[in-house]
Amino acid sequence: MRFAATTQSEAATLALGERLGALLQGGDVVLLDGVLGAGKTRLAKGIALGLGVTQELTSPTFNLMLEYPLAADTTQERLSTTPNTADKQLTTPRPEMPPCPETTTPTPPLPTTLRHFDLYRLDAVEQLADLDYFGLIEEEDAVSLVEWGGRFAEGLPLAYLAIQMKVSSVHPEQRVLSFEACGPRAEALLARFAALDTAGQHD
Ligand SMILES: Nc1ncnc2c1ncn2[C@@H]1O[C@H](COP(=O)(O)OP(=O)(O)O)[C@@H](O)[C@H]1O
Ligand SMILES: [Mg+2]
Repeated sequence: MRFAATTQSEAATLALGERLGALLQGGDVVLLDGVLGAGKTRLAKGIALGLGVTQELTSPTFNLMLEYPLAADTTQERLSTTPNTADKQLTTPRPEMPPCPETTTPTPPLPTTLRHFDLYRLDAVEQLADLDYFGLIEEEDAVSLVEWGGRFAEGLPLAYLAIQMKVSSVHPEQRVLSFEACGPRAEALLARFAALDTAGQHD
């Protein structure tokens, strides 16, 4: 499934992230791609808010990965959403992503940790092993956000929600977000998000 949304401001990107974050479950992996300044970290901040993170989320460009605990009591209360100001449309497939491998769908536990990765400074896919990237993103009680997550084709997880952010040529504060789900759980997540966003737009 693919889906696209346009935000008109940084605040709208934060709000979109918050709506998505409220839907995330343990084991979910969200890949964020787009040029420097596209808004990946702003979107990640919104997602963290939606997950109930109260700590300020900072860019992990120099740390490669930063970790945030998720309070057990907020994970149950995350389903209220912020107003939707995004426009959306169906998009054509992104050509650069390989086909999704089949995966199973176990019941996800409540997430206890948010891990925010940034692969920008990595030179080679082999360096992901030094980070224990694949071990960490497979943890079923953690949510993983990965800036530049689509950077290495061989470094793609088995299942993920990928969000490509583009700076609009029309307006400097406009961003076009293209969503692509890989794997049944990510498909279900994107379907929930798209349904919510559609409902929001009709308000
Ligand atoms: N609609 C928008 N969504 C997100 N960021 C925006 C938007 N419009 C302008 N900006 C600005 O773009 C920049 C995005 O920075 P950042 O999130 O750090 O990008 P990245 O992590 O992709 O390098 C910020 O300075 C932000 O204020
Ligand atoms: Mg960033």
